[in-house]
Amino acid sequence: MTEIYRSFAKINLHLQVEGVRADGYHELRTLFQTVSLHDLVGLTPLEAPGVELSVPGGGAPEDESNLAFRAAREVLDFAAADRGLKIELRKRIPAGGGLGGGSGNAAAVLWGAREVLGLDVSDGDLLRLAADLGADVPFFLVGGTALGVGRGDQIEPLAELPEQEIFLVDPGVSISTAEVFAALEPQSPRPLPPGVAALVEGERAMRIEDLGGFNDLEKPVLEAFPPVRSVYNALRRAGASVVRLSGSGATVFACFAESQQASEAGSNLPSEAKMYSARTLSRSAMRAARSAADGEGD
Ligand code: C5P
Repeated sequence: MTEIYRSFAKINLHLQVEGVRADGYHELRTLFQTVSLHDLVGLTPLEAPGVELSVPGGGAPEDESNLAFRAAREVLDFAAADRGLKIELRKRIPAGGGLGGGSGNAAAVLWGAREVLGLDVSDGDLLRLAADLGADVPFFLVGGTALGVGRGDQIEPLAELPEQEIFLVDPGVSISTAEVFAALEPQSPRPLPPGVAALVEGERAMRIEDLGGFNDLEKPVLEAFPPVRSVYNALRRAGASVVRLSGSGATVFACFAESQQASEAGSNLPSEAKMYSARTLSRSAMRAARSAADGEGD
């Protein structure tokens, strides 16, 4: 029996780099937010041990270089499972886009494998396996609005923001996270912006516009990638109230007060760019929607 899961994307409403750690990673304080754009992850138990992966529409590798493959192997090994797992990915989230598509797929496999195979693995075990797979993976097990500290892998769930419409623009270039971090000028610890700090302290009902968030990775990415700069400027010119790079890019997200401004932005984007309309999802909405009945895509 195949179970289908929705693997939602994330954006970083805020991303502050606080320096380089002894392990070479950067110390972060980032605000993650689940959004409705998603991939579909089909999981089928196999009688024999092993992992099979297919990506029928393309958009991601079908071998061990895919984080979803590694996630399956790690959770099966950890649980000493005597069965295997077949994974089928249907990709919609742009790859290399700062939306955590690959990390989200890995988390969906960890979580879904436990469910479809009935593995004896605790939530804490899943979080540790997730952190070993990649700094962004633990967030996807939690979802909603959450603060990420350390490498971005220590997750503190926060009060939910009200659902909000958001536009995601893929400029059509893929960016290496490692290269963006490597190009970053030295940063030091600073206080959080007041809106983000208020949210962390339990303030509810804040809108993205009120957070005062920023992204320290934005400047180096805008300087090095003209297609990202074109998208960023087009969104600003259309009157967006917020325009921000997500993660290490290339995706830029925007909020508009008027839907008219969003359609104007859409018609003025460079031809390689692709715009997606989405909405933010609370943790409870994400959890309610992450299982999709067989055959239901959307
Ligand atoms: O953990 P993940 O594989 O997603 O990270 C990709 C790369 O991004 C890392 O190898 C590292 O170079 C960089 N990175 C970083 N600091 C972080 C997260 C990622 O330097 N907090």
